[in-house]
Amino acid sequence: MRSLFLFLLSFLSAVCGIQGASDFRICSFNMQHFGDSKSKKSNVMQTLVKIISRCDVCLLQEVRDSKHTALPALMAQLNSYDTNNHYDVVASERLGRSDSYQEQYVFVYRTNTVTVTGQYQYPDDRSGDVDAFAREPFIVRFKAPKTAIKEFVLIPQHTAPANATKELDALYDVLQVMKRKWRTENVMLLGDFNADCSYLAKKNRGKVRLITDQNLYWLISDDIDTTVRSSTSCAYDRIVVHGEKFYQQVVPSSAKPFDFQAAYQLTEEQALEVSDHYPVEVLMKATASRVSFNLLLILLAFIFTCS
Ligand SMILES: *[C@@H]1O[C@H](CO)[C@@H](O)[C@H](O)[C@H]1NC(C)=O
Repeated sequence: MRSLFLFLLSFLSAVCGIQGASDFRICSFNMQHFGDSKSKKSNVMQTLVKIISRCDVCLLQEVRDSKHTALPALMAQLNSYDTNNHYDVVASERLGRSDSYQEQYVFVYRTNTVTVTGQYQYPDDRSGDVDAFAREPFIVRFKAPKTAIKEFVLIPQHTAPANATKELDALYDVLQVMKRKWRTENVMLLGDFNADCSYLAKKNRGKVRLITDQNLYWLISDDIDTTVRSSTSCAYDRIVVHGEKFYQQVVPSSAKPFDFQAAYQLTEEQALEVSDHYPVEVLMKATASRVSFNLLLILLAFIFTCS
């Protein structure tokens, strides 16, 4: 009986391992000034490609590719590095209040696991007090048939540090607009929110609707460090899920920063050449059928041990 149990247990963990591999990873990465000069450093590009190839969908921020060469180079290297998948890209225009400083929101995604079913550039109203954002969110809707949730909307945001509190609160309005516009509850907000340390004072958090609304789940908590520098510890980069239904389809405790310095055995100096931020990531559960198959196996193992 005992050996049968052990056999079942190993079988079970193998099956769970397979399921783990097919979980769907969503990432967000502030690449810190990604453009021409970074794209010419081959060691940096190799690390970036390794990081992005872990994700089914990866939101890139601080893409400052004014010559329009760095992103195509990154995509070419990514597709030749990971030949098991194919990657495509959907990107915003260059956004920013001044012509001299602009960034793009870029979503890199695997065409074999996900398709883009909609995109919407939130309008930039410069006419006065309604102009909340330095970089208005570029919102994308995805369909991912192998996930339990099937379809979801990503609202990206890289806040201007000095206005982080105001921009985060305004993001709540964007959420309401998108829920109505696309008639969906499955919305995730993610990015470098600058949501910690000196940019988001503790005393102001109670005024931010994105924080106080009980229907929003902040998956990266305040005590997490998303910065590379060992001298700093701030939870700037966040993932927020809207609604109980979407939250239930997140793999529990899977949201975390990806410490690429440790994973790829880099020195702090080498890691900082890549970015001063860690990417943050979360896993979405795979389709329900496989999950219930696992449940059945757990049940079987349980019956065998108890009999
Ligand atoms: C912060 O917000 C104010 C008011 O909307 C705006 O004038 C200013 O340019 C913003 N700062 C940055 C860095 O975007």
